[in-house]
Amino acid sequence: MSLLSIRNLHASIGDKEILKGVNLEINKGEVHSIMGPNGNGKSTLAAVIAGNSKFTVTQGEVIFKGKNLLEMPIDVRAAEGIFLGFQYPVEIPGVSISNFMRTAVNEQRKYRGLDPLSASEFLKLMEEKKKVVEMTAKLANRSVNEGFSGGEKKKNEIFQMAMLDPIMSFLDETDSGLDIDALRIVANGVNKLRSSENAIVVITHYQRLLDYIVPDFVHVLYEGKIVKSGSKELALELEAKGYEWIREELESKQK
Ligand SMILES: Nc1ncnc2c1ncn2[C@@H]1O[C@H](COP(=O)(O)OP(=O)(O)OP(=O)(O)O)[C@@H](O)[C@H]1O
Ligand SMILES: [Mg+2]
Repeated sequence: MSLLSIRNLHASIGDKEILKGVNLEINKGEVHSIMGPNGNGKSTLAAVIAGNSKFTVTQGEVIFKGKNLLEMPIDVRAAEGIFLGFQYPVEIPGVSISNFMRTAVNEQRKYRGLDPLSASEFLKLMEEKKKVVEMTAKLANRSVNEGFSGGEKKKNEIFQMAMLDPIMSFLDETDSGLDIDALRIVANGVNKLRSSENAIVVITHYQRLLDYIVPDFVHVLYEGKIVKSGSKELALELEAKGYEWIREELESKQK
């Protein structure tokens, strides 16, 4: 049984259909990359899986760990182990990263029937996980994403992922706006969090990221559907040929 099984997923915003029959099977231990032109539904797919109520699922099903994901409220999805790193992370002024994370970690523990972490246990966990993304104490003490540079937001995102230890993560353009060093740090962070017990979907426009986070599969999401899947070489082929190639291929299939 797959960890996450997306079958014929259709989703709309208002009367505009954005996802038009997405099929994707993800197993534990796998890293998948989703690529595709702007505005074709990549972020929408991640948002629908995470439970964003802006979108209406009109057809299809999503099974996570054998359960119907679409029936779960957004907080239950997170507690069950779904994590979404945002393309544009939100700022939460006045709430420190540590308070924010303490609440999030303890909510998850409560759902799983575990006692909340004590202050010292929590600090120990923070110290350990800050190392994953080389996060400085100074940054960790600031309000969530408030005034963070693009790179700091992305670091914080992977830090959150490390703290929550999700089973199924979606990272949406984690590479955008990162300098060379930050890209390496963030990618190394993701690699440290990879395990045989979890799965990660990396949404990216650039093959470059996939030199650092080597995916098992690459998919092209085009006009609301996954129209092509392959190994990591597919990302290189896309970079060389562009999306025009995908369009021509689809057109020739239709003929
Ligand atoms: N709130 C909204 N109202 C109207 N249209 C929306 C809304 N949110 C998303 N869309 C539309 O849905 C389509 C898919 O958007 P989505 O963000 O999923 O694309 P994407 O593949 O992630 O693109 P990018 O590569 O630019 O991040 C776009 O045409 C977008 O304008
Ligand atoms: Mg997007």
